[in-house]
Amino acid sequence: MIRTMLLISLTFTALISAVSSCTPSDRAALMAFKDALSEPYLGIFQSWTGTDCVQWYGVSCDETGRVVDINLRGESEDPILTKAGRCGYMTGSISPEICNLDRLTTFVLADWKGVSGEIPSCLTSLSSLRVLDLIGNQLSGKIPDDIGRLQRLTVLNLADNALTGEIPASIVSIGGLKHLDLTNNQLTGGIPSNFGKLGMLSRALLGRNQLTGTIPESISSMKRLADLDLSMNRISGPIPSSIGKMRVLATLNLDSNLISGQIPPTLLSSGMGILNLSRNGLEGNIPDVFGGDSYFMALDLSYNNLKGPIPGSLASAKFIGHLDMSHNHLCGAIPVGSPFDHLEASSFANNDCLCGNPLRTC
Ligand SMILES: *[C@@H]1O[C@H](CO)[C@@H](O)[C@H](O)[C@H]1NC(C)=O
Repeated sequence: MIRTMLLISLTFTALISAVSSCTPSDRAALMAFKDALSEPYLGIFQSWTGTDCVQWYGVSCDETGRVVDINLRGESEDPILTKAGRCGYMTGSISPEICNLDRLTTFVLADWKGVSGEIPSCLTSLSSLRVLDLIGNQLSGKIPDDIGRLQRLTVLNLADNALTGEIPASIVSIGGLKHLDLTNNQLTGGIPSNFGKLGMLSRALLGRNQLTGTIPESISSMKRLADLDLSMNRISGPIPSSIGKMRVLATLNLDSNLISGQIPPTLLSSGMGILNLSRNGLEGNIPDVFGGDSYFMALDLSYNNLKGPIPGSLASAKFIGHLDMSHNHLCGAIPVGSPFDHLEASSFANNDCLCGNPLRTC
């Protein structure tokens, strides 16, 4: 029953994507790609037979019969997978023959959990590539050194794999890159100091790696960056105060690193919505710079070496959703005001001598 439904859906998908048949050399490249992979449960490659690869599941061609998209997602956004009631699983590796598909603009092989081996280095010769999404597999080895050759790339998502080595220096030359996700790999080395050259980038997600070095000052020149995640690495040194002046930065996760120095006042007075600085080595007082523009969905300063009082200006913040100042060396009376009304004692636990609601009276 499930198989039948799957086949009907596959046929339907194939029909709407059909334009004309693809070239023999592209078909051969797709066959080699398929042969290096195994997808035992859903049978998505069952449609990859016959000469007309335009009708193959997840494959799209242009009007000249060249393959432009490979879009294979193993996660259940796909209605076929939802109906089949299971997530995709695929093993094998990415055949370098895929590099013969030199008109490819989209290559998605995402969330199949078991695809292993290296990212073929020849992939960087696919000069039309705009989207490269290989999230959620077991890919190992390095990100190709010359990834910067992919000058048309807008989305690079290699998160949740087992990639090692450094973030290639050439990455900063991908001028149109908008979305970079390298989360949850085993990347080492530093963030390139000229990372700020990526002027179109809106999301830079580099968390859960083993990155070292400092936060490059150049990041603060990224005018479109809205979401920066460097959490759970080994990044050290201070937070550049210029980061607090970034106009669109709304989410900043620097938690679980080795960051030291003081919290730049600009960071707290900016329009940031989510700020996590938890589990670092931050020192000094919490800057007393909050105000009517402060609107924090989450402000987590826990597990640092912060001292002094909780700033009185925090009481005038427009909104504080989740607040965590626990496990520091704060001391004094907790300010009174609407942002504090809903907070629990755990937000202030394990400090030196805080008092007042929701802790003991002073
Ligand atoms: C902040 O980061 C810490 C440590 O990485 C994590 O445990 C905590 O849940 C995060 N806080 C919020 C509000 O997400």
